[in-house]
Amino acid sequence: MVKKIILGIVILLVVVIGGFVFYVQLNWNKIYEIPYPDLQVSTDSTVIERGKYLVHGPAHCSNCHVGSVAEMIAADAGENIPLKGGVPFNMGALGTMYPRNLTSDSETGIARYSDKEMFRMMRHVVKPDGTGTLIVLMPFWNMANEDLVAVVSYLRTMAPFNNEVPDNDWTFVGKAVRVLASSFQPISNPSPAPVSPPMEATIARGEYVSRYLANCVGCHTNRDPMTFEAIGPEYAGGMEFEPWPEFALAVGGDPETWMRTPNITPHPNSALSKFKTVEEWKARFRQGRLINISQMHWGPFSRMTDKDLEALYLYLTSLEPSDYDAGELMFKK
Ligand code: HEC
Ligand code: HEC
Repeated sequence: MVKKIILGIVILLVVVIGGFVFYVQLNWNKIYEIPYPDLQVSTDSTVIERGKYLVHGPAHCSNCHVGSVAEMIAADAGENIPLKGGVPFNMGALGTMYPRNLTSDSETGIARYSDKEMFRMMRHVVKPDGTGTLIVLMPFWNMANEDLVAVVSYLRTMAPFNNEVPDNDWTFVGKAVRVLASSFQPISNPSPAPVSPPMEATIARGEYVSRYLANCVGCHTNRDPMTFEAIGPEYAGGMEFEPWPEFALAVGGDPETWMRTPNITPHPNSALSKFKTVEEWKARFRQGRLINISQMHWGPFSRMTDKDLEALYLYLTSLEPSDYDAGELMFKK
C-alpha cells in the first residue's frame, strides 16, 4: 500500500515537473504578434541631432551597447565608441545577455532590420525577431513619438561596424523567469505622447526624462533580484547590484562590493536632500562618477543639458517624501 502511494507521488511529480519543463521549453522564446508603430525615420539634421543627444545623454544607449568593459568605461568618460554591442551582462542565475550591435552594419547590425522593426522594439520591447526581452533594460516604451523617431533616425546614420554578437545564453531558471515574470512580457499598450514636454525646467519635463528616457525610476526603486519586479516604493532606492568583478578591477574598485541605490525622494535623510539648491544638483551631475564601481550611467547623465538637469531636480523635489530605508549604499555578503 505504502509503496503504491509513494509510486503514485513520484509519478505525479514527474508529470508535473515534466509538464512544467515542457511548457517552459515551448514558450521561453516565443514569437509575439504585436503590430508595428506607424512612424517614419527622418533625415532632417535637427531630428538627427536630437537623437544624438538622447542616445549619448539621458537615454544612455551609448553606455550599454558597447563591445567590452574597457569600452564601457571609455564611453562613460565621453569617448565616441561605436555601438557595436557584445559586452557580456552577467544576469546571475538567469544566464548572460549581450547588448546588440546598433551600428548600420548590414550583416551584424541594425541595417538588417526595417524601420518598423526598430520602432516596435523600442515601443513594445519586442525584438526584431519577434521575441521578448527584459523590459527594464530598455524601458523606453513611452518615449514620445518625436524622440523615438529622432533616436532611430540617428542610429541609421552611425557608421557600420561588423561585429557578430553572441546569442544570449539563458539557463533553465532564466527561461522559466522569461515565461513567468511580467518583467519579460512585451508592452502591449504603451501610452506615448506625440511630442515630448519641451526642454525647459518644468516638473513635466523632469518626470518625462526620469521615467521614459533616463530610467531613474528603474534603478532607484527596490526590485526583486530574480524577476526585477518592484518591491519597494518608487524612487525610495534599495535595489541591489551584484559585484561585477571585471568592471570593478578595471576601474580599480573592490570586486566583491555590492551596491544599493539610495533614496532620491525629498526625505530629509535621502541622497536628494544633500542638494540644497538646483545649482548644487547640477554641479554634482557635472562631476560625473565619484564612486568608481557605481552602476549609474554618470557619464551620459553628466552630459545632459542644464534644462534637463533642472527639470529633474524640480520633479524629484516635488515627489512625496518616503522614509523607506534603502540600506547601506555599499556592502559585502
Ligand atoms: C541597460 C543597458 C541598455 C540600455 C541603456 C539600452 N539597451 Fe538596447 N539592449 C540591451 C540589451 C542587453 C539588449 C539585448 C536584449 C536581448 O537580446 O534580449 C538590447 C537590445 C536592443 C535592440 C534589439 C536589437 C537586436 O538585434 O535584437 C535594440 C534595437 C536596442 N537595444 C536599442 C537601444 C537603444 C536605441 C537604446 C537607447 C535609447 C538602448 N538600446 C538602450 C541593453 C541596453
Ligand atoms: C543603472 C542604475 C541607475 C540609474 C539608471 C540611475 N541611478 Fe542614480 N544611482 C545609482 C547607484 C548605484 C547609486 C549609488 C552610487 C553612486 O552614488 O554613484 C546612485 C546614486 C544617485 C544619487 C546620489 C549621488 C550622490 O553623490 O550622493 C543621485 C542623486 C542619483 N543617483 C540620481 C539619479 C537620477 C536623477 C537618475 C536619472 C537621471 C539616476 N540616478 C539614474 C544607480 C542608478
